[in-house]
Amino acid sequence: MLSIKNIALSYCEYDTVDELEAMDRELINSAIQAAESAYAPYSGFRVGAAVRLDTGETVSGSNVENAAFPSGTCAERCALSACWSGYPGKKPAALAIAAISDGEFTDDPVPPCGNCRQLIAEEEMRHGKPVRIILSGRKKTLVFENSKILLPFQFNKNNITRAQS
Ligand code: THU
Repeated sequence: MLSIKNIALSYCEYDTVDELEAMDRELINSAIQAAESAYAPYSGFRVGAAVRLDTGETVSGSNVENAAFPSGTCAERCALSACWSGYPGKKPAALAIAAISDGEFTDDPVPPCGNCRQLIAEEEMRHGKPVRIILSGRKKTLVFENSKILLPFQFNKNNITRAQS
């Protein structure tokens, strides 16, 4: 029999970054700084991501484009790759994203692409800890307590676990 299900997704919206805690404001500033060092000559859209590890360090990344377009890398992937290689075993606790378009910090928060959402989901799964996702724009800042809110019905390792025969 057909049954229609509903899901409710909650997140916080702030009018100004002043309403956020200092730790989160600092992470946003690191994301903005990272966006400034992006290499995005093809799109002109510079994205910065900053990860706060559970041990307190901040690790940033920005998008790096390529003349062969699919070879380019998103800011989030760049930041997470730096965590994997430079801080093995440490857990990302929060990730902030900010972008610069036409030379200006964007009015609206920029959400991570689907591929990057999947990468964040894997981090949560592998470490058993949620990653707080902070999307900041000049007009507002959004905070999601974990990736399931941005990516419900996640594909994860449980989907590929084979039954033992
Ligand atoms: N981009 C990111 O860095 N992160 C995202 O989650 C969305 C898109 C970059 C990729 C490309 O260099 C530019 O933004 C335009 O799509």
